[in-house]
Amino acid sequence: MIKRSFVLTLGFSLLPLGATPNTYADTDMDRFLASQCAQCHGTNGYAVGDMDGLAGAEFNDLYDKLIDIKYKDDHDIMHYQIQGYRDDQLSRIASYYSGLPEGQGGEDHSSSDE
Ligand code: HEC
Repeated sequence: MIKRSFVLTLGFSLLPLGATPNTYADTDMDRFLASQCAQCHGTNGYAVGDMDGLAGAEFNDLYDKLIDIKYKDDHDIMHYQIQGYRDDQLSRIASYYSGLPEGQGGEDHSSSDE
């Protein structure tokens, strides 16, 4: 019995992203989906160093880019990252990042007098 409920719990935690969208407020789900990008593109899409930032992107630009990356086979890392998302989830991610102000939250590395 104990073993069985453990397996059930584990099974639920492995449900694919977005399988139960109604248990989250929409904006929470958008942020949750988008949070997977942060490990490479920076917290809330504010990139550090040479990485491409996502925050403040234009919705159509970003969405088109993501769809492009998903269906073309020439984007290496990103192509594989993006396979995990449905098109409507990519739309939510684009919507989340396009709703953020551009270029804030990152550190300014240009001045060194601190
Ligand atoms: C494992 C690290 C990693 C993760 C996670 C990741 N990316 Fe990327 N992403 C990259 C790298 C590296 C590039 C540059 C690759 C290239 O130029 O081919 C890139 C490029 C991009 C570009 C293209 C930028 C441009 O102007 O051409 C977009 C858009 C993008 N990522 C969006 C996302 C989104 C949205 C997510 C979350 C769903 C995400 N990435 C998750 C590593 C990552």
